[in-house]
Amino acid sequence: MNIDSKIGVIGAGAMGSGIAQIAATAGHSVYLCDSSNEALSGSKAKLQKVMDRLVEKGKVNSTAAKELQERISYVENTGCFADCDLVIEAIVENIEVKKSVFNELETIVSEDCILASNTSSLSVASIAAACKNSERVMGIHFFNPAPLMPLVEIIPAVQTDEKNLSPIIELMKSWGKAPVLAKDTPGFIVNRIARPFYGEAIRILEEGIADYATIDWALKNKGGFRMGPFELMDFIGNDINYKVTETVFEQFFYDPRYRPSFTQKRMVEAGRLGRKTGRGYYSYKEGDTAPKPNEDNEICEEIFWRILVMLINEAVDALYLHIASKEDIDLAMTKGVNYPKGLLSWADEIGLKKCLDKLDKLQAEYGEDRYRASLLLRKMVSKGEKFFE
Ligand SMILES: NC(=O)c1ccc[n+]([C@@H]2O[C@H](COP(=O)([O-])OP(=O)(O)OC[C@H]3O[C@@H](n4cnc5c(N)ncnc54)[C@H](O)[C@@H]3O)[C@@H](O)[C@H]2O)c1
Repeated sequence: MNIDSKIGVIGAGAMGSGIAQIAATAGHSVYLCDSSNEALSGSKAKLQKVMDRLVEKGKVNSTAAKELQERISYVENTGCFADCDLVIEAIVENIEVKKSVFNELETIVSEDCILASNTSSLSVASIAAACKNSERVMGIHFFNPAPLMPLVEIIPAVQTDEKNLSPIIELMKSWGKAPVLAKDTPGFIVNRIARPFYGEAIRILEEGIADYATIDWALKNKGGFRMGPFELMDFIGNDINYKVTETVFEQFFYDPRYRPSFTQKRMVEAGRLGRKTGRGYYSYKEGDTAPKPNEDNEICEEIFWRILVMLINEAVDALYLHIASKEDIDLAMTKGVNYPKGLLSWADEIGLKKCLDKLDKLQAEYGEDRYRASLLLRKMVSKGEKFFE
């Protein structure tokens, strides 16, 4: 693939619009398709606004901004995908709808065209199974907002032909992205490893150890995270965050480590979705101020360590199960969700024994499988090993 490769994007919502913008910025001709005319005009207007702002800030000159926008054709049917080299699907997260779209796409695109899904939580293998030539199908998972977040998870399905991976990895690099390879398992890398950031924070809240403002403060103050878990859930949307947790839990055959919470379920049912509805854990109404955290050092330490070792444990377990390489696991968490450090490097820095001791203490106290340490962590501690030299 090169700059002359034509890119098709289906779904002109938040993600599809962002992906189209990235491809056009890299110089490709892009067809952005949506079944809704309203979505297409909304997407076009949004990009116009983004480009106006970039021109205003002096980041792009007005000719380049105009040319970039002209490289995107907004279309209501997929017929023009016939000359595309890559089509990325970013429609509604529904397996039946995605399968029928992939099945139809195959009747339009050329034999060599690679088909990719931006799915966050569905099995790429089942999407690929909708195609006759399933060897050309893979997951290319961007993060929101796509033009700003550097990480892209590349997910080969069991059917994917390996020869199709390197052109896509190179293409993503040429788009300024940081591609990582992930196994086709629930949540891929980021949405799997990040679960305890939300789930353990909610559990701490439910146990009454601290309120949400204190938990957020502990993670930012002690951990250097840019946002606390509750701020981040409000930002992502409690509905979306809950759905991801629920899907990961179901797809992991109800592993208790990923169990969703009633707290978040009730927030969704109450319509307290976060920033987008003006109210989540925090209130976003003008004039409202956030509650003050309890800046007690002991509580701060307890919260921070509990969430951090749970995150590290997920990262180690992902490595143990060959979900991704250690380098990609660390890159994914820093580039996909802005963690201050890669979790495996962080574990090295803290000392693996200290992480294991903290997990074992939690498991002994709670007696819950949720806190079981990864076998890899235990093995590495017994051998005195580290992840990186
Ligand atoms: N929003 C995120 O944070 C995020 C992050 C990573 C991946 N994803 C994934 O990206 C995909 C899209 O998410 P989104 O947030 O952009 O959704 P969205 O609701 O903003 O946009 C989806 C668009 O797809 C269109 N659409 C639906 N069915 C269609 C069809 N059959 N043909 C053509 N267009 C169709 C809709 O009209 C809509 O404009 C989902 O699979 C989602 O899981 C989302």
